[in-house]
Amino acid sequence: MRGSLLVDNIGELVTNDIGGEGGPLGIRRHAAVLVEDGQVAWVGPARDAPAADRRIDAEGAAVLPGFVDSHAHLVFAGDRAAEFAARMAGEPYTGGGIRTTVGATRAASDDELRATVRRLRGEAMRQGTTTIEIKSGYGLTVADEARSLRIAAEFTEDTTFLGAHVVPAEYADRPDDYVGMVCGPMLAAAAPYARWIDVFCERGAFDVDHARAILACGQAVGLGVRLHANQLGPGPGVQLGVELGAASVDHCTHLTDADVDALASTGTTWVSGFEPTTVATLLPGAEFSTRSPYPDARRLLDAGATVALATDCNPGSSYTSSMPFCIALAVREMRMTPAEAVWAATAGGAAALRRTDVGRLARGARADLMILDAPSHLHLAYRPGVPLIRQVLHNGVPQCRP
Ligand code: NIG
Ligand code: FE
Repeated sequence: MRGSLLVDNIGELVTNDIGGEGGPLGIRRHAAVLVEDGQVAWVGPARDAPAADRRIDAEGAAVLPGFVDSHAHLVFAGDRAAEFAARMAGEPYTGGGIRTTVGATRAASDDELRATVRRLRGEAMRQGTTTIEIKSGYGLTVADEARSLRIAAEFTEDTTFLGAHVVPAEYADRPDDYVGMVCGPMLAAAAPYARWIDVFCERGAFDVDHARAILACGQAVGLGVRLHANQLGPGPGVQLGVELGAASVDHCTHLTDADVDALASTGTTWVSGFEPTTVATLLPGAEFSTRSPYPDARRLLDAGATVALATDCNPGSSYTSSMPFCIALAVREMRMTPAEAVWAATAGGAAALRRTDVGRLARGARADLMILDAPSHLHLAYRPGVPLIRQVLHNGVPQCRP
């Protein structure tokens, strides 16, 4: 959209601008934001706001950077509601249901997969998510992984090759051959559409040697590293992520003191600005939906690790696209303060994707923001389950007004 746009009369503006005043969220009161060419051109007191071609009156409400959901599996077919119901009746979650979704995904047409991604992307946008990472991982053949990423790339720059999600049934008795295929023809077909590579490093999925080999192959062709680690039990995944300089290790539900120390040793984005730390990305939707103990965010934060929150949106372990829901869980169940949770869902997600253009509202950042139907960011956790996102701007363009 051409011309300038002023978002005016903001009661509480969360900037995440750590250079200024206003605590770690960089909060400004009675503020305005000028948008030009899809970027933030100016941030300051409403009384000093420059003239603009158009104006949105925030009516004293809170304005935040758009959420950065750094972990989502949106390319799939079918659902696993029956598996969820069985869990709520006492069955454990093992990750074995991934193969059910693989079968449905392989059988779906490109257009069916695309329609699902579009539906979930829209759902997320209406809940304030302006940046989203999308993984493959339910195709698990060369052709199905490549098409999953090709479709994902229609919706985001942050696409992740997760050919190593599980060993598919046809390779069940020869996992080494599957790993060879992932590192060879599958990676070659996937890499043109991928920015990241990911592995589910867990008992029942890929062990640490396989994970290291696969991630190294991805790094060798220029992909950034992230991984699923320490979700279902303790293990070497977090340490592997730190060793490889991963942008993020995700789940982090079962951590030893050494794991926490390793993550903290990579630095604190909160204090130091955007540095290439290994972020601990917590996915409380997965613990909610698998009725598992939540990760201890307080322990990570107190040790000095950088924490992000993401949805893990997928049909098995966490079928939510809602970052506000994850914020509410993080505050209530994981001992994060509302400010820490909001930071983790915005700037934390940006750090987990090694992006400096999103997750904050300062001159030069992308004009991705949301206007709440509430006076403060606190309401995201204080009023759980309530649709508080009044309006979303993505690249400076108003998206929806429910
Ligand atoms: O992040 N843990 C591995 N992958 C997903 C679950 C996928 C599924 O159950 O379909 C996760 O939780
Ligand atoms: Fe996941």
